[in-house]
Amino acid sequence: MPNKITVLTGDYIGPEIMAAGLRVLEAVSKAGHFEYEATTMPFGGHAIDECGEPLPQRTIDECKNSDAVLLSAIGGPKWDAAPKRPEQGLLAIRQALNLFANIRPTEISPAMMQYSPLKKIEPVNFVIVRELTSGIYFGTPREQHADYALDTMRYTKAEIERVSRVAFQMAQHRNHRVTLVDKSNVLATSKFWRVVVDEVAKDYPDVELNYSYVDAASMKIISSPEQFDVILTENLFGDILSDEAAQITGSLGTIPSMSTGDQKPVLYEPIHGSAPDIAGQGIANPFSMINSVKMMLAHSFDRADLAERIGKAVDQVVADNIVTPDLGGKYGTKEVTDAVIKNL
Ligand code: NAD
Ligand code: IPM
Ligand code: MN
Repeated sequence: MPNKITVLTGDYIGPEIMAAGLRVLEAVSKAGHFEYEATTMPFGGHAIDECGEPLPQRTIDECKNSDAVLLSAIGGPKWDAAPKRPEQGLLAIRQALNLFANIRPTEISPAMMQYSPLKKIEPVNFVIVRELTSGIYFGTPREQHADYALDTMRYTKAEIERVSRVAFQMAQHRNHRVTLVDKSNVLATSKFWRVVVDEVAKDYPDVELNYSYVDAASMKIISSPEQFDVILTENLFGDILSDEAAQITGSLGTIPSMSTGDQKPVLYEPIHGSAPDIAGQGIANPFSMINSVKMMLAHSFDRADLAERIGKAVDQVVADNIVTPDLGGKYGTKEVTDAVIKNL
């Protein structure tokens, strides 16, 4: 059985960085004898153009039949006023594949430190575990009227428990610390998260649990990121904090993510969007997608050796200052990708 990967190429810079990721995958696979079958399916804005749907049923079927899904950012001004937006497809695929835990690492290698806006000496290495299929993104009622609108933040005990276990288990393989980020001084859902997470924590006595309100956590991510190991949080807070955390590396365009559920497939995607402001110029940073490929090889295909090869190649390219303009460099997507491949 070949290793099956579904490829969703995305909109605006989506296809530009996906091409980079796939070139690196091909090169490292050849060198390391990894065999795979990649199938591209319609998804997002261009799927709306082609078939009127951001997430056609056959795309869901193909994903379910895969070991891993590689996804590049969707959406953008072309579809902002469309009756169905590409973003709806993104939320729908997460729900259709039951990908309730979204893992977003902020790990800065010594080579990358030079690009960080923080003047830190210690390396930064923490991970955000973001609940991905519930909360205010999915709660109903959701209504917009002439003189008021409302969204609903709702969480069940089971939804909090399962994503919390992902966070605690991850901490057991890291530095044994979980920080629950919430707004339990105000919100009922946050108070409930604390009750449920306290209960789950009893099953992981080797992991230290502490808490932070989300406003203070956003400050601590900048002032003292070294205090974090695993941050556990709900959907919307995790969305916001992960873009902030990404910028510690110097650019949002470096960070990959992995979304998991109870079964295959696992989905890998950059955390950033389709960057319409720089699309078509050939200057998008490919690291977020190359790092997504790296994460996929390690986690879905048990090829830590190939992941390490990619990591070392990226570090070398960074050390050589072959980087895109978002990191202050003068190189294009293709040149950076060529350099990574040369260093594999
Ligand atoms: P964005 O993440 O696309 O861009 C924010 C800023 O970061 C921009 O200045 C952009 O140029 C820069 N940036 C992002 N990725 C980069 C990269 N790889 N290299 C260099 N610079 C990069 O956020 P936005 O502008 O708020 O959203 C644009 C569209 O993307 C919207 O339609 C939004 O809904 C969508 N979006 C999609 C996803 C996804 O598909 N996973 C995620 C976030 C936003
Ligand atoms: C992300 C994005 C999505 C989210 C949007 C595009 C729906 O911002 O993946 O971080 O909010 O989850
Ligand atoms: Mn986001």
